[in-house]
Amino acid sequence: MESTQQLANLGIEDLRAHVAAELARTRRRSTQLTDAVDDDDLIRQHSPLMSPLVWDLAHIGSQEELWLVRDVGGAPAIRPDIDDLYDAFQHPRADRPQLPLLGPAEARDYVDTVRDKVFDLLDRVPLEGRRLVAQAFAFGMIVQHEQQHDETMLATHQLRKGPPALTAESPPPPPSEVLPPEVHVPGGPFVMGTSTEPWALDNERPAHEVHVPGFFIDTTPVTNGQFLAFIDAGGYDDPRWWSEVGWAHRQRADLRAPLFWRRDGDHWLRRRFGHVEPVPPHEPVVHVSFYEAEAYAAWAGRRLPTEQEWEKAARFDPGNGRSRRYPWGDADPTPEHANLGQRHLQPAPAGSYPAGAAPCGARQLIGDVWEWTASDFRPYPGFSAFPYREYSEVFFGPDYKVLRGGSFGTDRAACRGTFRNWDFPIRRQIFAGFRCARTARDEEGD
Ligand SMILES: [Fe+2]
Repeated sequence: MESTQQLANLGIEDLRAHVAAELARTRRRSTQLTDAVDDDDLIRQHSPLMSPLVWDLAHIGSQEELWLVRDVGGAPAIRPDIDDLYDAFQHPRADRPQLPLLGPAEARDYVDTVRDKVFDLLDRVPLEGRRLVAQAFAFGMIVQHEQQHDETMLATHQLRKGPPALTAESPPPPPSEVLPPEVHVPGGPFVMGTSTEPWALDNERPAHEVHVPGFFIDTTPVTNGQFLAFIDAGGYDDPRWWSEVGWAHRQRADLRAPLFWRRDGDHWLRRRFGHVEPVPPHEPVVHVSFYEAEAYAAWAGRRLPTEQEWEKAARFDPGNGRSRRYPWGDADPTPEHANLGQRHLQPAPAGSYPAGAAPCGARQLIGDVWEWTASDFRPYPGFSAFPYREYSEVFFGPDYKVLRGGSFGTDRAACRGTFRNWDFPIRRQIFAGFRCARTARDEEGD
């Protein structure tokens, strides 16, 4: 059985107010991320892996124009001449600086113009009937899209050289309690995915029952201190721990430590949004590829969890057999539950957020770091592409690994127990870490 959804219970006028607040809240973040640097910085490409920030900004407006102004609103195009420039499928990131992009002032004017039209539309569009507008889905999709680009822009900030441009409070101090290293999740069926979450995307649908054998999963994500032990044990130089393709990549890319780490004598420093600081041992490791996560797990005598295991650990409530929206229940995330929303520009120490623990006892499944899973990105049984094939369907297959749970850079609107992210297994600039799992032995029960 699936949990009840808060958004689904709102009346139409409350739903409009909710959408308006989410659009405004999201735009404040996009503005902060782009106002934090000067025009030269907005136009520059800080890494061939990323777009110039000014591309992300106008692309946010372009998608909003396409889906809300033109499709939902039926209004004529504002800037049909720039559709192609901001179509992510037309131009790889590395080529985007060479395009005749809108400059910073033009891009800001453009996104403001689009947004004004969207607020007009929101006042009058019926939020029922057509599937694209029912429960304000298209608006929710656009809020999530902008939030996803805000996380991408945050990753660009992390790649940017130079003095710090962003500031944020430190996360809360580590809890003093001693937690078990792993927790048990009993074998049996649970409901994975969702058919009722109004703003869930096509790849999270439909809800379906999955049988998961009993397993153990780490109570917290793997920390820098734990990962250092792997480095110190020669883990990067021992092909035993790596898959064949992972080892080939490790050799080719000359991987020796997480991205942004640098050895300084007998200890390690890291660069974080322009600050160079000693690697904090109790913080979840971040900026590791799937291959590094997989090698660490093998070295530790464990493995990465499957996507099914991750979601069962995060959502299954053995008390009533239901799948929750979040590890802590059905309520939307608050700052007591999880490190989300760029409130802190780093993961919180392992074991933080006791109020966000799952029924199995695992912590920090939501927020802090995206967690690599062992699973390829595949459709659920009964999948149907909506509202377009390019949202998810074209990415299904063995090339992409699934990541779960969101990071400190992910907004609550773009993160929930069912949310699926995917990326290439070599990716390191994303805010990704991992936790390990193992199958329960017979004598441990299932
Ligand atoms: Fe996009």
